[in-house]
Amino acid sequence: MIRPPEYIRSIAPYVPGKPVEELRRELGIGDAVKLASNENPLGPSPMAVEAVRSAAGGVNRYPDGSGFYLKNALSEKLNVDQECLITGNGSNEIIDIAVRTFMCAGDEAVMGTPSFVVYPLAVQSVGARGIQVPLKEWRHDLRAMADEITERTRVVFVANPNNPTGTINSAGEFDDFMQRVPDGVLVVVDEAYREYVQDGGYPDTMEYLRAGRDILILRTFSKVYGLAGLRIGYGISNREIIREMEKVREPFNVSSVAQAAAIAALGDDAHVERSVSLNEEGKEYLYAELQRLGIGFLATEANFVYVMLGRPVASELYGRLLEEGVIIRPVGTDAVRITIGLPEENRLLVEALQRVMQGGLDL
Ligand SMILES: Cc1ncc(COP(=O)(O)O)c(C=O)c1O
Repeated sequence: MIRPPEYIRSIAPYVPGKPVEELRRELGIGDAVKLASNENPLGPSPMAVEAVRSAAGGVNRYPDGSGFYLKNALSEKLNVDQECLITGNGSNEIIDIAVRTFMCAGDEAVMGTPSFVVYPLAVQSVGARGIQVPLKEWRHDLRAMADEITERTRVVFVANPNNPTGTINSAGEFDDFMQRVPDGVLVVVDEAYREYVQDGGYPDTMEYLRAGRDILILRTFSKVYGLAGLRIGYGISNREIIREMEKVREPFNVSSVAQAAAIAALGDDAHVERSVSLNEEGKEYLYAELQRLGIGFLATEANFVYVMLGRPVASELYGRLLEEGVIIRPVGTDAVRITIGLPEENRLLVEALQRVMQGGLDL
């Protein structure tokens, strides 16, 4: 039987958040609340839905592989040239493209832990090695990460805000870090949740692009824009980096429907504002309720809350909440990540938490 190389065999597969349909199949729970994958609970912009409808009639044709109109819209919005943009089947694909473009077997990438679980998977899939640097006080320890850079390092991943902690690194910390990163190393800053950030100290990473640094900024339509199911994200970098990445990109990687929806979503600022203020409301509610229940958590700059259990009961809590029809995400053994939902969903979560605690699970 054909066997993949050892570096593929040793990959621990990504476990996605459980879809609502699976809960229906497995436990017969029909009206599950999914707070597991940091999606926008408001849904997509109605303008994006309309764009999907009108694009549907044209799906006999391949999409525009260059994503011209979407890049045009993005380039206006971001004030960057189209040649500085690359679009992907989710920002996840841009991570893969960056790794395949700049890394090969034996190379190293530095990343935080816990952070977005796809970084080590992408790196390992090309036979390279992920160097995992523990967070410090739940934030990326950028000093320690810079110290891990060697002549084998090609890429450093910084999720800002970080998933699963929802924390950010400040402009000052990031600047100090960039001064420590040598030439020849690509800094990938993953800003999937940037629209949710309220902290005024959040770095403007475009500054480093303007300064000619090798940085790749990742953004997505999956979070605040509510298009996770369509799979579309993009990267911003300098022309040279984008040109190389374009060689690796599959020619028709982003569907015509996704492109049309993304263009429409970009034009609906009001939907983004509504989504962010709903998130703020939900955040305040959950902070107050978690405090009342005596459950530890981190303040978040994203659309999810990192809940610290203090004991290795994450999978037990996950299982008990599943039985209550609420899907969350365990992180390691003693923490869970909960996406901020609609007010009603947040309320159902809190009620379920209460029942689980009354049932004897000490949180
Ligand atoms: C930090 C981070 N980056 C990237 C992604 C991938 O998003 P997508 O591929 O849907 O754009 C996620 C999704 O959860 C994420 O949390």
